[in-house]
Amino acid sequence: MCGIVAYIGQKEAYPIIVKGLKRLEYRGYDSAGVALLHNGDLNLYKKQGKVANLEEFTEGKNILGNAGIGHTRWATHGRPSDENAHPHSSTNGDIALIHNGIIENYASIKSELKSKGYSFKSDTDTEVLTILIEDIINSEGVSPAEALKFALKQVIGAYAIVLLSKSNPDQLVAARKSSPLVIGIGKEGDFYCASDATPIIEYTKKVVYLEDEEIAILDRNAGLKLYSLDDVAKTPYIQKLALKLEAIEKGGYDHFMLKEIHEQPRSIKDCVRGRLNASEGWVSLGGIKDYEDKIIKAQRIILIACGTSWHAALVAEYLIEDLARINVEVEYASEFRYRNPIINENDIVIAISQSGETADTLAALELAKSKGATILGICNVVGSSISRITDAGSYTHAGPEIGVASTKAFTAQVTVLSLMALSLAKKKGTISDSKFRVMLTELEAIPQKVQQILDKNDEIKFISEQYKDASNALYLGRGNSFPVALEGALKLKEISYIHAEGYPAAEMKHGPIALITEEMPVFVIATQGPSYEKVVSNIQEVSARKGKIIAIVTEGDKVVRNIADHVIEIPEVNEHLVPLLATIPFQLLSYHIAVMRDCNVDQPRNLAKSVTVE
Ligand code: F6R
Repeated sequence: MCGIVAYIGQKEAYPIIVKGLKRLEYRGYDSAGVALLHNGDLNLYKKQGKVANLEEFTEGKNILGNAGIGHTRWATHGRPSDENAHPHSSTNGDIALIHNGIIENYASIKSELKSKGYSFKSDTDTEVLTILIEDIINSEGVSPAEALKFALKQVIGAYAIVLLSKSNPDQLVAARKSSPLVIGIGKEGDFYCASDATPIIEYTKKVVYLEDEEIAILDRNAGLKLYSLDDVAKTPYIQKLALKLEAIEKGGYDHFMLKEIHEQPRSIKDCVRGRLNASEGWVSLGGIKDYEDKIIKAQRIILIACGTSWHAALVAEYLIEDLARINVEVEYASEFRYRNPIINENDIVIAISQSGETADTLAALELAKSKGATILGICNVVGSSISRITDAGSYTHAGPEIGVASTKAFTAQVTVLSLMALSLAKKKGTISDSKFRVMLTELEAIPQKVQQILDKNDEIKFISEQYKDASNALYLGRGNSFPVALEGALKLKEISYIHAEGYPAAEMKHGPIALITEEMPVFVIATQGPSYEKVVSNIQEVSARKGKIIAIVTEGDKVVRNIADHVIEIPEVNEHLVPLLATIPFQLLSYHIAVMRDCNVDQPRNLAKSVTVE
C-alpha cells in the first residue's frame, strides 16, 4: 500500500520518479506527488488520482532537480485529495517526506505539536511525522537525519520513509519498519530508493533491502551509510537483482492481468522446474527439505494467509490432509493474530503470500514465532519481508504479478503446495508408489493443460458477454473445488464490482438458494470426481429454480451439458489437481466481464496490491 520512489544523483530526478511511480501504481492510486530540490528550492507537485493526473498537472512546467522523492497513495488517514497527497512538507518548507505505513499514535503527537503552535494542512499521519521532525530540528538543532532518528523512537506503527531537505541537498534519508524499502546503488553517486525493485531495475542491479528499524543515508558524495535506530553503523548487504525488465512490462497485452493469466503455463513450469521429475519419480522442495522431518512429526500445520492466498491455503488443506495425513488448519492471518491462538513449539506455521509483505500475515507469523513455532513461508516476491523472517520456505517463482487481482500467483501457490503435499506424503509413506508416480506425471502435464484452457479464450469471452450485466453471481464447488468457487467469486467482485459469493455446493440449500432467479448466473465446478453426482444434483436444484448455469466440466461430459446453459470443458486431470485448471476459466470470465463493463482491470477501485497496513 502506497508506493515510494526517490532518486539522488547526477540525472534529472522527475522522469525517473514518475516512471517509477507508474510501476508502483499497483500499490495504490488515490493520489500521486513529487518533491524536487532545485537551486536551493524545495518544490512540491501533488494531485489527487493516478500518476497520469500528476503528469497532466505538471505538463509544460519545467520541473528540474537531481534529487527528488515521489509517492503514489492508498488512502488511510484522510480521504483522497490534493492536500492529503504526499509528499508532505514541514511548516517552514525545509523538509519533505514520503511515507508508506501508518503512524498509530499520530493523534497524540499532533495535539502536542498543535499546542506548540504548529498548524496542519492535511488530515494525514505523515504530515504529523514531518512536523514532528521539524520540531526536533528546531528544538535540538540537529540535522534532518538525526531528527528523523529521534522522531522514529517516538512513533508507534509501520513505516517506509524517505526524507529530502534543503539543509542537506546532497542526501536522501530513508528508514523502514514493517513496510518494504529497497535501495538501488547506481554509478557515480546515483542512488535510487523504492517500495520494490521495479522502478530501479533499468538503472542498476545492485540493491540493498533495508531491514526493520534501519536508517539509510544516501549521499551523492559520501555514498551509502546504514545505521540502526540506536545509531550503530551497519554494513550494507549488497545483493544482485535477478528481475528482468520484460517481466514487468505488458508485452503486447491490453492489461497486466491478461498477460499474467496467459503466463500461467510458463509460471507453473518455472515453479516445478528442478523440483519434480516424473520419469525419475522424485519431488524435492529444497527450501523446506531440512524441515520435512519436523513437519511430518508435527501435530498440525497451520496455514495463514489473506485473500486469494487464503484460498490457496484451503486447497492445500485438502491436499496435505488427504495425501500426507497431517492435520491442517487454515486461518485468516488477521483473525489469527488477535485471538490468542494456542500455539507451541510442535506447531508448523506456514504463511502464504504473493507479496510477502501483507501486514496481517507478517504479524501473525511473528506471533507464531514468539510462541516457539517453526515458521515457514511460501512467497512470490524474492527478498520480501516474510521470506526474510521465516525459518525457511519456498518461492513460487511466478515472476512479478502487477495486476491487482491475483492470478498466476494463485496457481503457483497451489503448485508449490501440491509439491509439498507430495513430498511429505512420500516421506511419511502415506502415498503408494504408483499413486505418487501418477500424480507427478499429472503435475508435470499441468502447464500444457492450462494452455488448452487458455486456447478457449474466445468461447469464454462469448459466455462473459451473456453475463456482463448481472448484479449478483453465485459460485459453487465441493471438496477442493470449493476454494476455487471462493476464488472465482473474489475475482469477479474485485474487478467487475458484481456482487458474487462462493459457497460449498451442498450448502446452497441452507440459504443462498433463496437468491436464485432467472437473473442469477450460477457458476459451478462439476468436474469428474467423487462428488460429481452430488454436484449434478445441486445443478438440478438451480435449474429447477431457473437460475442460469455456467458449469466447468471435464472434457466429454454429457450429463451436465444437458442441464447447464453453458459448459466450459477442461482437460481430464487427477482430482487433487482440479483447482489448478478449474480456476483458469473463472479468471478469464472475470477479466472479460470487467473489460466489457469498462472497469479498470489492473487497478480496481479502493484496492492495492500489497496490503501493508492492518
Ligand atoms: C485478490 C488479491 C488479494 C491478495 C491478498 C493477500 O486478487 O490479490 O486478495 O491475495 O491481499 O496478498 P498476499 O498474497 O500478497 O499476501
